[in-house]
Amino acid sequence: MKNILVTGGAGFIGSNFVRRSLKLKKDWRIVVLDALTYAGNLENLNGLEDEYKDRYSFNKLDIKDKEGVFKLFERENFDGVINFAAESHVDRSILGPLIFVETNVLGTVNLLEASRKYFKDGEKRFLQISTDEVYGALGEDGSFTEETKVDPSSPYSASKTSADLFVLAYTRTYGLNVVITRCCNNYGPYQFPEKLIPFMIKRALDNEPLPVYGDGRNVRDWIYVDDHNDGTILAFEKGKIGEVYNLGARCEKRNIDLVKIIIEKLKNNLKDRKDFKEPQINFVKDRPGHDFRYSIDPSKAERELGFKAKVSFEEGIEKTIKWYIENEGWWRRIISGEYLEYVKKQYEDAK
Ligand SMILES: NC(=O)c1ccc[n+]([C@@H]2O[C@H](COP(=O)([O-])OP(=O)(O)OC[C@H]3O[C@@H](n4cnc5c(N)ncnc54)[C@H](O)[C@@H]3O)[C@@H](O)[C@H]2O)c1
Repeated sequence: MKNILVTGGAGFIGSNFVRRSLKLKKDWRIVVLDALTYAGNLENLNGLEDEYKDRYSFNKLDIKDKEGVFKLFERENFDGVINFAAESHVDRSILGPLIFVETNVLGTVNLLEASRKYFKDGEKRFLQISTDEVYGALGEDGSFTEETKVDPSSPYSASKTSADLFVLAYTRTYGLNVVITRCCNNYGPYQFPEKLIPFMIKRALDNEPLPVYGDGRNVRDWIYVDDHNDGTILAFEKGKIGEVYNLGARCEKRNIDLVKIIIEKLKNNLKDRKDFKEPQINFVKDRPGHDFRYSIDPSKAERELGFKAKVSFEEGIEKTIKWYIENEGWWRRIISGEYLEYVKKQYEDAK
């Protein structure tokens, strides 16, 4: 049995990862570490304790907590770490960058320090979950490869870039067995409703206008969360030490087109609901430093890891929209006072 530490396992991608890897990797025991910030939700992991009694446990802990993290490493004798824990929302990083440095940089370095102490065996791997945003913005053409120079635009992406540089330094300086994955925008169940797709669904179901930044022509590259997580497992098992792997599904969409697809899908799925009205789109003041376009070239992961995204956008978005309609209770429960306060601050221009 392999004992794997998954940090940030109560968040969107992490909780999907925990469910998927417990199902697919029968010889993995997963220890989740999560501080349960506003974005972490234990409900995302409901049922796992009963279903996987001996292969799953949860620890409420902050990745910055040196004593707590070192004690956990001492006790659990991990075979590897997969670090999803992060402050992950660009807009929040513009409102308050410091916590992004604390969690994404200091927290990651704390985990690296614990790994340096307890992972004497070079077989034990530290996998850093990074993002395509470290590469900055593209114009109309081209895609990010692993050779693209890092050039972050927002405090969020700057903090993720800094973490990546520390991860790489730990392999060069201390020989730590590290791998980094950089993925494009994820979508799927359990995503906190401040992120584009669930945010638009929530607004539409509440008969509120849908705010779109600028003229909506910014392009994002989308991947269904299970495909990202399958790539994560492959990188953890087959990635070469010190290497970076881009993960993506070659699925670029302009924001405005994505919002229109969401509206069409909602109309189809809710045609029997009399209270649902087609929402209006409101263009709002652009986000400062808004990257124009992201596009991930996943060729290296395809070639070296055997990675291939399997879920088409059509299938993935249909599943995702159905999930948010059927799990309205889930997102209504997590929309707290703090969240409403944040939305008010962020989108006051949309009113
Ligand atoms: N969402 C995307 O589209 C996307 C794309 C590429 C990469 N990523 C990366 O994937 C990872 C997960 O993203 P997500 O969208 O699931 O984020 P999320 O915000 O949904 O989840 C983050 C999780 O980390 C936990 N966390 C935050 N600070 C912590 C701390 N100090 N100690 C312990 N736990 C802490 C939160 O409680 C939460 O459970 C992040 O590293 C992010 O940079 C995300």
